Amino acid sequence: MHILVTGGAGYIGSHTCIELLGRGHRVTVLDNLCNSSTVSLDRVQQICGQRPAFVEADLRDRPALESLFAEAAKTGGFDAVIHFAALKAVGESVAQPLRYYENNISGSICLFEVMEKHGCRRLIFSSSATVYGLPEKLPISESESIKPTNPYGHTKSMMEQVLLDTAAAHAWNVTLLRYFNPVGAHPSGLIGEDPEFPNNLMPFVAQVAAGRRPKVTIFGDDWPTPDGTGVRDYLHVCDLAAAHVDALEKAAPGAATAIYNVGTGTGYSVKQMIAAFESACGHPVPSVIGPRRDGDVPTVVAEASLIRQRLGWEAKLGLQEMVRDAWNWQRRNPMGFKGALLD
Ligand SMILES: NC(=O)c1ccc[n+]([C@@H]2O[C@H](COP(=O)([O-])OP(=O)(O)OC[C@H]3O[C@@H](n4cnc5c(N)ncnc54)[C@H](O)[C@@H]3O)[C@@H](O)[C@H]2O)c1
Repeated sequence: MHILVTGGAGYIGSHTCIELLGRGHRVTVLDNLCNSSTVSLDRVQQICGQRPAFVEADLRDRPALESLFAEAAKTGGFDAVIHFAALKAVGESVAQPLRYYENNISGSICLFEVMEKHGCRRLIFSSSATVYGLPEKLPISESESIKPTNPYGHTKSMMEQVLLDTAAAHAWNVTLLRYFNPVGAHPSGLIGEDPEFPNNLMPFVAQVAAGRRPKVTIFGDDWPTPDGTGVRDYLHVCDLAAAHVDALEKAAPGAATAIYNVGTGTGYSVKQMIAAFESACGHPVPSVIGPRRDGDVPTVVAEASLIRQRLGWEAKLGLQEMVRDAWNWQRRNPMGFKGALLD
């Protein structure tokens, strides 16, 4: 298949390019590089011997999308789109809601309109466990109610609705993947998560371990969890990448919609994650206890059996691989893609 990967230069997108190329698919990446660099695509080439075609463009640039789809049509068109491109920082979305709605919603709608015009009606969408907000039941199943608590989460739940309505009206084949907490990196250490300022625990821990930041703040140690710190369902980014390609290859043919949690069903606390990272890097990672953050919840763990039953996907990599690979990436790229690659 020829797959258009929006946001394919980013963290999850670049890992998914490797999985797609490895399974023999043809890949075109569209990215405006607002949170990434083409070095990730050079590294994809280093890992798998092929470089995805790359178009630097914004999702909201309709003429650019039109010409991309028209050009692809000359060789059979895109068979499907994997749509990663979005802004994703929860705190930033609270401070700049219009920017988030404009980018994530206007951008996505522009993409979907061009897809429909060109008869490309198959899409895998990056959604998030954030859509569940404060869950009523654990583990969280796909039938849990949708009630996001921040603008970023609202952009995801709104796009889910747009896609379900579009699928119903125009016979699209749509898979919504609700990711839990992707972490880790490709085992080569050549690509990984490269935030300027980390919003999530693992990249923060990795940057502290590498000496880029002084300490990790743990937001509350008085939660109703075994050690008092927040518990999340972490999954290896390579497993997550495989879930996308499984969803593409194994989805029911024709018009259909599917919604899957992508997680492991196992939760680890902040303290457990830091301890595991310390074992991987071989030295202590300084941390301090801070106050709880508004809107945080004690435990978020997926009920992950649906994707196993329907697509045969389950996480193959455990906590040890997650922290080993996250550290290997950080150790080899202490300043991310901007700095030198170490041995
Ligand atoms: N990383 C996570 O923890 C997580 C969890 C749940 C869901 N998601 C979702 O998964 C997707 C990928 O996340 P990621 O962690 O790889 O993020 P990322 O920032 O590394 O990748 C997103 C990519 O999209 C590009 N982009 C953003 N807006 C664009 C636009 N208007 N036009 C073109 N390109 C644009 C960015 O340059 C970047 O390369 C996002 O939709 C995100 O919301 C991520």
